[in-house]
Amino acid sequence: MIKIKVPATSANLGPGYDSFGLALNLFNIYEFSQKKDDQFNISIKDSNNKIVNFKKEDNLILKTLLTMKEYYPDQIETKGLKIKVDLNYPLDRGLGSSANAIIGTLCGINEIFNLELNNKKILDLALQIEGHPDNIVPALLGGFTISQVEKGQLNYEKFTVSKKINILLFIPNLEIKTKNARKIIGTKIDINAASQNIANASLVTAGFIKNDLDLIKKGSKDYIHQKKRLSLNNKLNMFFNEISKMIESPFFLSGSGSTIIFLSKKDFTEKEEILKMKAKDLGIVNYLIETQVNNQGIIINKVGD
Ligand code: HSE
Repeated sequence: MIKIKVPATSANLGPGYDSFGLALNLFNIYEFSQKKDDQFNISIKDSNNKIVNFKKEDNLILKTLLTMKEYYPDQIETKGLKIKVDLNYPLDRGLGSSANAIIGTLCGINEIFNLELNNKKILDLALQIEGHPDNIVPALLGGFTISQVEKGQLNYEKFTVSKKINILLFIPNLEIKTKNARKIIGTKIDINAASQNIANASLVTAGFIKNDLDLIKKGSKDYIHQKKRLSLNNKLNMFFNEISKMIESPFFLSGSGSTIIFLSKKDFTEKEEILKMKAKDLGIVNYLIETQVNNQGIIINKVGD
């Protein structure tokens, strides 16, 4: 049996729309085994051990498997294949759950059928399925990542992040479908917004390379997507504006939302309490998760025979 842990990821990090990604020490767990019976089965459970059912067309594990089967029809045998997934954080909250499912499946199928795909091939296939690279790269490699797609070619760079940086995830009880959150941005941006984002994204990159949260904070404002996405939900928008006034450390809408991610050098306890109170006042049911950056990326283990 192959057991795989794939880190949750936070994309964009403010100005790095569709490019920046950060892997977190929060994992979904996948198990792949091949049994003698003919049954093909995918079973997905959430953190409360409840079965999660997807429509066939929304099941990215199945979609990834079928895409791989088109490329490797003779090596992949679905008869007897069992895939078991434990989800440890909520879906559609901007924590890279789609990329997680795609990378987990690509790596699991690669291992169990000895396809010998290297990271580049895995990422190329993942990009084909996901459409943008910012969550898939850190889900596989860990760390802070910059990804770029030029003429269909994926280029990326990974940086190791200091373990001293603490991360707080505020996860509202609000699902946001990335597809809808992408539509709202539109197709045109203002030239000043573009130049501000270029400058800010450069500062955020410098901040991660130097492990300097003040630099990250200086560059944390986004002029392309965050404001439009926050406007999707009044309470989330109010919460974001409230925390702008009281939190000094950098924070961003994670991916296309609804999670807000905070980076800090210090213990979070005091801030957590304030955030919880604000969230309660606004009536946003929430989960708060304290974690760190994951620099290792995917973890693959062979268990038993
Ligand atoms: N860069 C993507 C977006 C991340 O913001 O739409 C979500 O997958």
